[in-house]
Amino acid sequence: MNQTLERWSSRRAFILAVTGAAVGLGNIWRFPYITGENGGAAFLLLYVGFVVVLGLPVMMAEIMIGRAGRRSPMQSLAELARQRGTSSHWKWLGLFGAFTVFCILSFYSVVSGWSIDFMVKAFSGGFAGQSAPQIGAGFDAFLADPLRMTLNHTLFLVMTMVVVAAGVAKGLERLNNLLMPALYLLLIVLAGHAVTMDGFGPAMAWLFTPDFSALTPMVLVHAMGHAFFTLAVGACALMAYGAYMPDHQSLPGAAGAVAVLDVLVALLAGIAIFSVVFTQGMDPGEGPGLVFVTLPVAFAELPGGPFWLGLFFLLLLLATWTSSINLAEPMVSTLVGWGLSRRMAALAVGLCVWLVGLLCVLSFSSLSDVHLIGEMNFFGVVSTIPPEIFLPLGGLLIAIFAAWVMPEQEALRALDAGPNGFRVWRAVVRWVSIPLVLVVLFSGLL
Ligand code: PHE
Ligand code: NA
Repeated sequence: MNQTLERWSSRRAFILAVTGAAVGLGNIWRFPYITGENGGAAFLLLYVGFVVVLGLPVMMAEIMIGRAGRRSPMQSLAELARQRGTSSHWKWLGLFGAFTVFCILSFYSVVSGWSIDFMVKAFSGGFAGQSAPQIGAGFDAFLADPLRMTLNHTLFLVMTMVVVAAGVAKGLERLNNLLMPALYLLLIVLAGHAVTMDGFGPAMAWLFTPDFSALTPMVLVHAMGHAFFTLAVGACALMAYGAYMPDHQSLPGAAGAVAVLDVLVALLAGIAIFSVVFTQGMDPGEGPGLVFVTLPVAFAELPGGPFWLGLFFLLLLLATWTSSINLAEPMVSTLVGWGLSRRMAALAVGLCVWLVGLLCVLSFSSLSDVHLIGEMNFFGVVSTIPPEIFLPLGGLLIAIFAAWVMPEQEALRALDAGPNGFRVWRAVVRWVSIPLVLVVLFSGLL
């Protein structure tokens, strides 16, 4: 990627690539269970609000830096800082981002592996005729089997690193073009089916009638972190994609389209999943297993259920694949920037992530009661702190860099929304996004 002028083949391809990074476990796995743990509608409203006033403007900031620098994140940051005549230490922000995605990928790969296992099980009829409690027990048995989990984690990571080793821009584009619409369609069918369930009414009420009385600073922190996580913002991962962005494409339009789609996917998943939860009298706050238990139950009622369930997990797998490729890219391009070949870099990153992932695997069996912070075991820590603390911190620094540090002319050009659009964006980032991240992080600390 070093100073190359390779570009995405079209504007649409850029939007599809960013969507590929954005839509993933965050929407279909993390959104429902975090919303469930935080009480529903109030959390949902906060999260959407944070997407609008934080996620979206900072996403633009992040892509702008890559687009103006046209290099790897660290190099872009260093170059733009140099142009402005300030410290080149800003480049370490790129390294912090790489560390963040490293942590995220280590649990992301493990959970994505679950959908491999579930896909195979569904296609082979393993869920046929099972009741909700049986499906729940099957999931618990799966979690308690570190070998099976490790196998799937390994498979998923190999899939990811092979694409990364071959270079990002090419393979990804085609895959995204082809398959994501099918996932959206299937989610629409599922949400449509949910309308016929007894739990649909209660689910809608629970999702869309906010009760702010139970609001705590920690709920704010969770909602903010999830807004960054789901949009893939704050780790310089999208910065790397910005370097490939074509000229003459307005950034607010592209980023807005991605954010709308990302929120829609989460909402559809939420409607489908919580309708099952309320129909079956399950607990919305049941945690990371929520999706993997409710969806098999939902599909069991549909004609051809096992096939459609298998297809769903296949498409979820593809969605998480494009996200994890984006997660791996910052680390690999950093190592490439330090002189490693792409293949060696992908291999090294893959091995390290694999090892840390093993700790996540064991967090569901032998290490489950090893509490590191409060009640959180290793998986709890690594799936909470990087998304909810590191991403907002990275996003904060990215926002400061884009709105205060990088040369104004470069920023104006990279946003590509005219002088007035630029002024609006900068005012929002300077006076809303940056103070808001600080306030939420501090209120969470206290
Ligand atoms: N946005 C992805 C998801 O929702 C996760 C992600 C986070 C990807 C950070 C890249 C960077 O699943
Ligand atoms: Na997402």
